[in-house]
Amino acid sequence: MLDVLPRLPDDPILGLAAACRADPNPQKVDLTLGIYMDDEGVCPVFGAISEAQTALVAEEISKAYLPPAGVADFNNGMQRLVLGQDSAALADGRVSSIQAPGGCGALRIGAEIIQAAAPGAKVWVSDPTWPVHIPLLGSVGLTFETYRYYDASTHGVNFDAMVEDLKQAGSGDLVLLHGCCHNPCGADLSMDQWETIGSMAEAQGFMPFIDIAYQGLGDGLEADAAGLRHLAARLPEMIVAASCSKNMGLYRERTGCTIFLCKDKDNADALLSQAKVAARRVYSMPPAHGALLAGRVLADAALTSQWQDELETMCARINGLRSDLVLKLQEATGRDFEFIRKEKGMFSFLGLSADQVKDLREKHSVYMLGSSRINVAGVNSRNIDYLAKAIADVI
Ligand SMILES: Cc1ncc(COP(=O)(O)O)c(C=O)c1O
Repeated sequence: MLDVLPRLPDDPILGLAAACRADPNPQKVDLTLGIYMDDEGVCPVFGAISEAQTALVAEEISKAYLPPAGVADFNNGMQRLVLGQDSAALADGRVSSIQAPGGCGALRIGAEIIQAAAPGAKVWVSDPTWPVHIPLLGSVGLTFETYRYYDASTHGVNFDAMVEDLKQAGSGDLVLLHGCCHNPCGADLSMDQWETIGSMAEAQGFMPFIDIAYQGLGDGLEADAAGLRHLAARLPEMIVAASCSKNMGLYRERTGCTIFLCKDKDNADALLSQAKVAARRVYSMPPAHGALLAGRVLADAALTSQWQDELETMCARINGLRSDLVLKLQEATGRDFEFIRKEKGMFSFLGLSADQVKDLREKHSVYMLGSSRINVAGVNSRNIDYLAKAIADVI
């Protein structure tokens, strides 16, 4: 029976990262995966997380299952972090959430709930979007439509085209929005644009499904959630999938959360019960370690402040790298790369052709996605000159 299954190609992004690891060139540059790396090329553990871990290890006497909704401090902390301390929806008690295995698990639980409420519902996704969205949500049975989003000629959002396409989104449809730091293009909506999307959702009845995996890595924790919070303040229903992989460095601990914003408290409770049943049939119980750490950080004022300082340093370094990259690329190529400075978060589309990307890989051991998406946080003081020269060479 099993021998009918053919071998599948590796995931294109993970495959590229593996090819880079195997490349013996000591000057190789890995800009593939969305992982924050410091100037030494290391993906660091946050000090606040380390402290929480030391305390957890000292106190932990059991590895029994968590409750099905996960760690209470984590869920409460995440609701406040994402929706804001002064969220009216939180004060009204019309929010519930479930801990999930990473942002992917959170998206999946969101999709399971949508599928239960409206089988085969249409999800509008940006063109482009993170390539994992479609298989992750589609395998539940949801269907897709795309809306135009990124304009390669301006390196920004084509908002007129986005609005034109989303005019066709109706009641019962979902619109998947990147809460901040759009992956792959780094081009985010302005506050005015979020407001327009809010008005369209009110008028047309579609529901936002928000993926926020990079809160704190664009303009800071509050600013990065401002668009999402605007929608939460004016719409009756919304689902948010949040990840702690990047902003708490908990990648491998699979720490995320699905937040349901509902019409009232009864409905929020009903959705939590649905989410627990959905989780039970997909992976049964949530993983503990990452959420116990994040929950401790979010419930302790001193650890929260330490973590926020570390995150701000990280965010400032990424934005500093953006400025450095603009200067180095302009110097090396004589071309205008100013757009890199305007983008948010870890990613940028450099605007190179597939052939140029291939040349970079084959001639210079510089690895980026075929679309020329780079992880800006993979740039550092040792590789930036080499990278700029290599790019100048291929263009
Ligand atoms: C846009 C987007 N959403 C969600 C995720 C979820 O990540 P994780 O499942 O590792 O928390 C990622 C990770 O790269 C992402 O880029």
